[in-house]
Order: sequence, then C-alpha cells, then structure tokens
Amino acid sequence: MDKKLLVVANWKSNKKITDAIDWLKAFEKQINEVNLSNIQVIVCPSFTALSAVSSYVKQQNLPISIGAQDVSGFDQGAYTGEVAASMIAEFATHCIIGHSERRKNFCETDYTVVRKVEAAKRNNLKSIVCLQDENTPIPERADILAYEPIFAIGTGKPDTRDNISKVFEIIYPKAAGKLLLYGGSVDIGNIGQFASVDKLSGFLIATASLDSNNFVELLQKC
Ligand code: PGA
Repeated sequence: MDKKLLVVANWKSNKKITDAIDWLKAFEKQINEVNLSNIQVIVCPSFTALSAVSSYVKQQNLPISIGAQDVSGFDQGAYTGEVAASMIAEFATHCIIGHSERRKNFCETDYTVVRKVEAAKRNNLKSIVCLQDENTPIPERADILAYEPIFAIGTGKPDTRDNISKVFEIIYPKAAGKLLLYGGSVDIGNIGQFASVDKLSGFLIATASLDSNNFVELLQKC
C-alpha cells in the first residue's frame, strides 16, 4: 500500500474522560504491532474529553491527531452552548462537520455546514465534511470529504465496494483535490477490501473504533 490512509475514529456521544484515557492506554500498549508509516490516526472524542485526550496524547507522544465531532459556525461570543473553533483549536487539529446525525437530530442544513467549515478554516482546523450521497453539496473550503450513506451508518450493512467507487467517480471531479473517505459499518471484516478503492484516502469509523483492541486490528488490516 503506497498511499497514506487517514483513519478517523468517531466516538460519537460515548466515553467519559476515564473511558477515553483507558482506550488510549490500551492503544498505547498495542501500537507497536501496527505499521503506521502509511496511516494517520485521528481520534474524535466528545468535547468534554478533548482536553484530557489531548494532554495524554502529548504527554505520551502517541501517534494520534485529535478531532472534534462538531464546531460552532460562530466565533466566540454570546452563543450559549456553542463551542467555537478557536476553543477547539486549543486541543484539536480537525473537526467533523455535517454528520447525518447532526442534520437529522439537530436540523443542520447545507448552509449551517458551510458556516461551520468557514469557522473551522478561520481557526486553522481541518474540516472533515460528511456527504450523505453524491448529491450533497460540497463546501468549497472543506479539507476532507467523508461519503457516509445513511443506510450504512451503524447498521452493519456497509455500502458495496462498487457503489463506493461509483460515488467517488462522481464526487471526485467536484472535490478539487480534497481527500475522500468512506464511512458506514466499516469493520475488521471489510476494511481490507475497501482500502483498495480507487481515490479512497481513508475511513470514518464509529462503532468499530470504540474498542481499542478492535481499532488496532482495523489498522492492521488497512
Ligand atoms: P459506523 O458509523 O462506523 O458505526 O457505521 C460511522 C459514522 O457515523 O461516522
């Protein structure tokens, strides 16, 4: 495998700080078993664990970049409950934007997504924008795109290799050099076959990332 793969762990609304640190400790013990020369790992904890995860990763010099799972479209100020990109940038280098769970449960729109991408950009956070299908608008200033069909998220029923290739063929000309990831029921049984999809630069993985042993196994199979 000569291309560098990005493997993004999306922990969603899981893991208190102690759980997150336990995961990192277990990961640390096994990490020598993985050849990471062609893989960049990005772990996305909840906001409340960002600081602790970032400190631990720095202290132990772990080969992990950190991402947030969302970002405010507003800069800091009177926006109760929001977490501004400048605050996230204290701990993270990346942020996921426009996940279908946010669109569905929190009424996020394509407009909101663009606002968030712009806010991330102003603060040097790399955005990983989720596309539900080949027709989802691509924000011009997004850095990374993750094709995540809704039917495949958390269902154990990933998209087919053929369809991922077809969707990438459509997205690629509109993507202007952005990296393309696939997400949706990626697991140790299928990651190997997806890794060789043309134009694929990595994965966005939730369920199969929650257990560190399982996650390390995934990395070994990339
Ligand atoms: P899954 O979710 O890996 O559990 O299917 C992917 C995601 O929602 O990012």
